[in-house]
Amino acid sequence: MSSRTYCLFASEGFKDSMFIALEGIDGSGKSSVSKHLSGMLEERGYSVWNTMEPTSSLKIPESLSLDHSFTGAVEQFLLFTADRMKHVREISSKLESHDFVISDRFIMSSFAYQGVIIAEKTGSLDSAIDWMKSVSSFIDLSPDLTLLLDIDPELAMKRVTSRGRRTGFEDPEYLSMVRRAYLSIPTNGLQIVDGSGSIQAVSEECLKIIQGRIRK
Ligand code: ADP
Ligand code: TYD
Repeated sequence: MSSRTYCLFASEGFKDSMFIALEGIDGSGKSSVSKHLSGMLEERGYSVWNTMEPTSSLKIPESLSLDHSFTGAVEQFLLFTADRMKHVREISSKLESHDFVISDRFIMSSFAYQGVIIAEKTGSLDSAIDWMKSVSSFIDLSPDLTLLLDIDPELAMKRVTSRGRRTGFEDPEYLSMVRRAYLSIPTNGLQIVDGSGSIQAVSEECLKIIQGRIRK
C-alpha cells in the first residue's frame, strides 16, 4: 500500500480515500476502464481496490434478468439491494486501507435499470427512485465520485455482441431507456464521460477528473 494521500472533496472537507462508482449501460466499457484506470492510478503510487456489482455471490437467474415486468424489476431490485448491503461493508473496510475503491456499478445501476420499469407503476422515475432510496436507507455509503460512461446503445450492443458473454439485460430498446434514465437522475458527484473513445482515451478522461479532486 502506498503512503496515504489526502483527497479533498469540496463539500465534505478532507477525506483520506475516495470511493468511485463507474456507471453506464452494458458495453459502455466500465470493466475495461476500471482495470485500465486502476493501473494508471497505481503507476502514480496510489493503492486501488477494484470491485463490482453484482458481486460474485449474487447469481440472477436468466429468466429473471429477462423479466421486464413490474414484479420482475422489484424482485431484481431487492436481490441487488441485499447484495449491496453486504458489499458496502466490504467497501467501507477496503476504504480504510486503500486510497481508492473503484466499483463497476453501484446503486445508480438499480435506479436506472429497475427504476425505468418501476416508474411505469409509480408514475415517474423520481417516485420510483424515492421508493428505492427508502428501501436502501440502511445503505449508508455513497460514492464520492460517479463516472457515468455515456455511449450510444447501438455501439454498446456491438461491443457486447463481440464480447460473447451476454446477460438478459442487454436488449437495445431497454438499454436506450436505461441510458435516458442514467442521464436524468440527479446524483451528487456525477461526471458524465463520453464512453465512445478508445479505452485509453476514456481512462485518461476519468483520470483527469479524479486528479482534479485530489489535494496532494
Ligand atoms: P461493461 O463492463 O460496461 O459491460 P466492457 O468493459 O466489458 O463493458 O466492454 C464490453 C466489450 O467492449 C469488451 O469486449 C471490451 O473489450 C470492449 N470495449 C470496452 N471499451 C471499449 C472501447 N472504449 N473501445 C472499444 N472496445 C471497447
Ligand atoms: P454484468 O455481467 O456485470 O454486466 P456488465 O459487465 O455489462 O455491467 O451484469 C450485470 C447486469 O446486472 C447488467 O446488465 C446490469 C444489471 N444490474 C441491474 O439491473 N441493477 C443493478 O442494481 C445492478 C448492480 C446490475
